Amino acid sequence: MMTEGRDFVSDSEVKKDVTFGHVDPENRKEISDYYGFEVVNKFSKVAEETTFDKMIDYRQEQMRQGCLRVATAREGKDLIATSVVVLKDMADGRHTLGKEIESNEAFAAGTFILPSKRGSEVAKRLATEQEKITEEAGKKSILTEIDYNNSPSMRFRMNKMGYCLYGTKIQDKDGQELYVYRYKKNLENPEDVGPRDPANQPPWVEKIKVGELKIHDSEVNPDSPPEIFISPDNIKQIQVALDNNYKGVSLISPELDFSNEKDKPLDKNYIVFIKD
Ligand SMILES: CC(C)(COP(=O)(O)OP(=O)(O)OC[C@H]1O[C@@H](n2cnc3c(N)ncnc32)[C@H](O)[C@@H]1OP(=O)(O)O)[C@@H](O)C(=O)NCCC(=O)NCCS
Repeated sequence: MMTEGRDFVSDSEVKKDVTFGHVDPENRKEISDYYGFEVVNKFSKVAEETTFDKMIDYRQEQMRQGCLRVATAREGKDLIATSVVVLKDMADGRHTLGKEIESNEAFAAGTFILPSKRGSEVAKRLATEQEKITEEAGKKSILTEIDYNNSPSMRFRMNKMGYCLYGTKIQDKDGQELYVYRYKKNLENPEDVGPRDPANQPPWVEKIKVGELKIHDSEVNPDSPPEIFISPDNIKQIQVALDNNYKGVSLISPELDFSNEKDKPLDKNYIVFIKD
């Protein structure tokens, strides 16, 4: 069994003064620090009908019931990142953080890293810890949802952590339609949708360079090639691809993947979809 509040060991790729730990459900100050960090950084918002203190009580109850776990990264005493996992509904039946999950699933409900600390190994360490929390709770897969335009998060979850895009959702945000994509990683069988180990993925960038992998601008159908790519802006095309048994596995970005090419083969980010 895991001890609440334990540290998980840092490795050499993370700056030496970064320590990782878990928020202890019995330590109200730690809960207040983690939630305050999210609020100050505008990653969470205290709803008008409640107060910060009431939210801490509520989070504490959710953590005590084992519905929610929070992993943290600190430099000295200061939080630099937090990462939340939802494990189940509350005892009264309410969905924890509004996340609907099956009994064998967990939900990666939000990782926030201070902008100046991004691009290090911190995200990977926290996401790996989310997977450990999920496994320790006896669950088989971890899900997450990401806005269509949150490229760093999509690239991080697919290209580095091996999640696949398997669903779409349209949400109302301030009266506007917001596209959200659903991702999952099967922890029992990470290879369930093709080569899910990011290190073993086919060389998509090379395939694009030699013209083997092309933008799919016609309607996806059962005869479409087994590897195609579609813009994250195009939710309709993505839904048709999912209906035809494709799964999204990688975000390709012209600035990052073709940084040395004067004439870039892509003018914006695209998601690679594959089918079994
Ligand atoms: C999402 C988040 C936790 C990832 O942490 P991170 O330290 O940025 O992660 P990494 O650097 O390991 O991975 C991000 C990848 O996206 C890439 N990226 C950054 N901006 C990008 C862009 N505009 N388009 C495409 N890729 C982009 C990065 O270069 C990196 O890829 P690379 O390592 O192959 O170069 C962090 O960006 C964050 O805290 N974002 C704000 C909160 C948030 O959106 N959380 C997720 C909510 S669902």
